[in-house]
Amino acid sequence: MSEVDLRVFADGDSLIEAAAQLFAEIAIASVAERGRFTVALSGGGTPQGLYQRLARPPYRDDIPWAHAHLYWGDERLVPPNDPGSNYAQAARTLIRHLPIPEENIHRAKGELSPHEAVQEYRRQLRRFLPPGSERFDLVLMGMGSDGHTASLFPGPVSPAESEEAVISVTAKYEGRPANRLTLTPLVFNNARNVVFLVAGANKAETLAAVFSGGYQPEKLPAQRIRPVEGRLIWLVDRAAARRVKPR
Ligand code: 6PG
Repeated sequence: MSEVDLRVFADGDSLIEAAAQLFAEIAIASVAERGRFTVALSGGGTPQGLYQRLARPPYRDDIPWAHAHLYWGDERLVPPNDPGSNYAQAARTLIRHLPIPEENIHRAKGELSPHEAVQEYRRQLRRFLPPGSERFDLVLMGMGSDGHTASLFPGPVSPAESEEAVISVTAKYEGRPANRLTLTPLVFNNARNVVFLVAGANKAETLAAVFSGGYQPEKLPAQRIRPVEGRLIWLVDRAAARRVKPR
């Protein structure tokens, strides 16, 4: 990887504060420049602290939430009130505390069949982000200890990834719901800003391999995320960064 913007923080609190500040800066600048802020949220445990922080002052008051449009980079195919739903988790930690219009919440419909959920999410994306002409202002991403990101898991790269904005996926990880849908690198790599949040010693070996193990996109899907024109920023705690070699 070249020109890595890797920012390492001493602990979880400073990581979360830096992520909240960056989120707010991008949101405020996007609304000032284009009148709205489009963001794809991530699932998993790591961003929940960020969501809780954004739901409190100053971020709750300073971010122009009325002009923010929330999407998800991936979703588990379970109903929206299931504790395993990425939407449900963000609703609990963030959305219900915000002054944001209901119509600005663009959740994937995990309660549908995989085929229907994918078709429906593609339609939602096209409404706001027509292919080729629009880009997410911000994509938040996490990384699993196996190198997956969003729901792009290790294994052969599906040809659909280079043709479609949304695909369905089945993958087992830490007992989480296995049927999922995910945006593809076509969308992620078109974003203006991609921010990874990674914490914990169990990610250290994988993170080091992502940065300095050579390009192995089938083994390390996080390496498939390479914005064409946008910024790629890694916010990482010291425990996760401890095996990354200084460049
Ligand atoms: C999901 C995610 C996923 C997540 C990683 C890391 O729906 O599960 O979007 O890609 O970011 O699994 O999860 P943790 O933050 O819990 O380690």
